Amino acid sequence: MNALQSTLAKRFDRAAHTYDGAADVQKSSAELLARALVQRADRAPASILDLGSGTGYLVELLLQRFPDSQYTLNDISPKMLAVARNKLGQRANVAYQLGNFEQDAFKPHEWIVSNFSLQWAQNLNRTLRSLYGQADTLAFSCLLDGTFSEWETLLQSRGIPSTLLDYPTAEALVATLQSLPGALWVESKNFSITFPHARAFTSYLKSLGATLGARPLSQKHMRILFAHNEPVQMTYKVFFAILKRP
Ligand SMILES: C[S@@+](CC[C@H](N)C(=O)[O-])C[C@H]1O[C@@H](n2cnc3c(N)ncnc32)[C@H](O)[C@@H]1O
Repeated sequence: MNALQSTLAKRFDRAAHTYDGAADVQKSSAELLARALVQRADRAPASILDLGSGTGYLVELLLQRFPDSQYTLNDISPKMLAVARNKLGQRANVAYQLGNFEQDAFKPHEWIVSNFSLQWAQNLNRTLRSLYGQADTLAFSCLLDGTFSEWETLLQSRGIPSTLLDYPTAEALVATLQSLPGALWVESKNFSITFPHARAFTSYLKSLGATLGARPLSQKHMRILFAHNEPVQMTYKVFFAILKRP
């Protein structure tokens, strides 16, 4: 694990017990992905690997429809996996694998799924190709370029340099997925939330373990931003895809 990934793991560890209280958009996204998967499934898959499973939203939903499949939940954060294990209880068909989805080897699974996690991959293109090489179905959601663009506008209006992370474009993701064999379904959806002020938005992100940029804002810039006491609307742009071998 490199320094960036170990910082990521620590941040998600710290958020493991506040995540479910804030993750409404992540939950809605898991519901959309699970519904699309169920609609396209002609039978129950033998096994499902959930990458960056967090507290287990996607597996919770898939278990309702496919109670007898074998599940593996993977996450880089031990505390996220502990919350998932607590929630799902002891089940013979559910296993946990702590590790980095970009580096670690996984047993073959019929489906590989992932909700709201693959945007953390350092090389998303290579990760998608490699994952689809290990499964019959790859289904995921991830953040798109333009997510929280309102934050960038707010920073610019206060003369603060932007710190937003780079997310992929839908066009780049579709181009990668279309270069792989199989039937492809894609959808993009925006989810907006209004916060009473900028500070409420940064607290919300902290409780999710998320971050806006590679570097934190300076104290001076935070003071300037937090003086903004107006409501702020922030928009997630989310990409969904299912790629399935015939
Ligand atoms: C936004 S949360 C999404 C969690 C969950 N899938 C959900 O639907 O709520 C992102 C999760 O991805 C995990 N993660 C990020 N990078 C990872 C990596 N390289 N390998 C494994 N897990 C990773 C984080 O620890 C975190 O639990």
